[in-house]
Amino acid sequence: MSAAKRDGLERLWPLYGLEAESVAEFSPQIIDVGFGNGESTLDLISRTCTERILAVDIYRPGVASLLLSLPADQAQRVRIVRGDIMEVLPFVAPETLQLIQVLFPDPWPKRRHSRRRLLRPDTLPLFTSRLARDGVLFVASDDHGYAGEIHQACRRLSDLAVTRPPSRASTKYGRRSDSVYELAWRRVAT
Ligand SMILES: C[S@@+](CC[C@H](N)C(=O)[O-])C[C@H]1O[C@@H](n2cnc3c(N)ncnc32)[C@H](O)[C@@H]1O
Repeated sequence: MSAAKRDGLERLWPLYGLEAESVAEFSPQIIDVGFGNGESTLDLISRTCTERILAVDIYRPGVASLLLSLPADQAQRVRIVRGDIMEVLPFVAPETLQLIQVLFPDPWPKRRHSRRRLLRPDTLPLFTSRLARDGVLFVASDDHGYAGEIHQACRRLSDLAVTRPPSRASTKYGRRSDSVYELAWRRVAT
């Protein structure tokens, strides 16, 4: 990691960084999962006014990139957790999120690695349980098989209905992809 990123982490983490256990106090309305270098989070900030946005990724240099690009006047409504989203979601109050965005989750294309995929039939219920009524789970993937599996798993969840995808940020992985599958599911009353 560059000296500038190390410096950014040291200076800005105390302002924006959160531990998973403190997420409930921040009470996010939007979660950006696996933000990479931060482009998707910056896009969410630019498209919203007051919503509290939580950005979660395990990749330290990416956290530093986002910290260095955050507009200074957004300190109140943006927080970053460096960690595994599966360990963060339990600290988010159920039925509170307007949007969970997951752009280009690692596809783990080899069959023997498929358990490493983030969005699976056994993990999706934790994601959707955090959506408010009408809250949206938005996923983009360039992996046809992974997108199909997510679609099938969401179809089996009775509190989800297909909805129109929100606008998608231009991100590093999105720009590399020839075909992009967008999946958007809205939480409905059951
Ligand atoms: C393929 S990259 C996509 C990055 C970015 N969204 C984009 O579109 O360019 C996947 C990202 O997900 C992050 N990631 C992987 N597993 C994660 C997890 N369990 N929790 C949070 N982030 C995770 C990785 O560190 C990486 O930044």
